[in-house]
Amino acid sequence: MIRPILQVGHPVLRQKASDTEPGEIGSPDMVNLIEDLIDTMRAADGAGIAGNQVGALARVCVIGVNRNPRYPHKPAIPLTVLINPRVRLLDDERFLNNEGCLSVPVRGELQRYMNIEVEAFDRSGRPFRQVYRGLSAGTVQHEMDHLDGVLIVDRIEDNRTMATWDMFHAHQEKEYLKRIAPVIEATEPRVD
Ligand code: NI
Repeated sequence: MIRPILQVGHPVLRQKASDTEPGEIGSPDMVNLIEDLIDTMRAADGAGIAGNQVGALARVCVIGVNRNPRYPHKPAIPLTVLINPRVRLLDDERFLNNEGCLSVPVRGELQRYMNIEVEAFDRSGRPFRQVYRGLSAGTVQHEMDHLDGVLIVDRIEDNRTMATWDMFHAHQEKEYLKRIAPVIEATEPRVD
């Protein structure tokens, strides 16, 4: 079921989500939440979505990109459910990204780590580890921020880079795609 996506200014977007108890993973409520997150993300052409964004303060997020018109430059990323995710930085390399968010009407430039390893539970409650690099790593960090009540507007270093989607396409996208090409090249996991 597609749920309404909370927009910046809603207090739940500013709250820290709590860890899901191992016993709750696989419960009907959690199964519903995960299915709704996937439906809602896909309906909105998003690259990821976190529990807070649909009003659920559970530490669960979903990432995944099919080739889609909202992200013509993004490599496809496999659909992955992350429950109670923890991130470990593999090094201190960062890249300047330009991000949007389903809960925020503007995009802007911010720094993300390039190489991370995530430890999480999948929707069956099985623990797994996955290395993410490049844009995939950025997406995971974006969703982890949501779980901590952090939004892109907190991370955008120069407010003058803020733009609506239309203005991004009109004035920034060309330059961004040129700059981000090596990061796209390094992105993993990906589905080509
Ligand atoms: Ni977001």
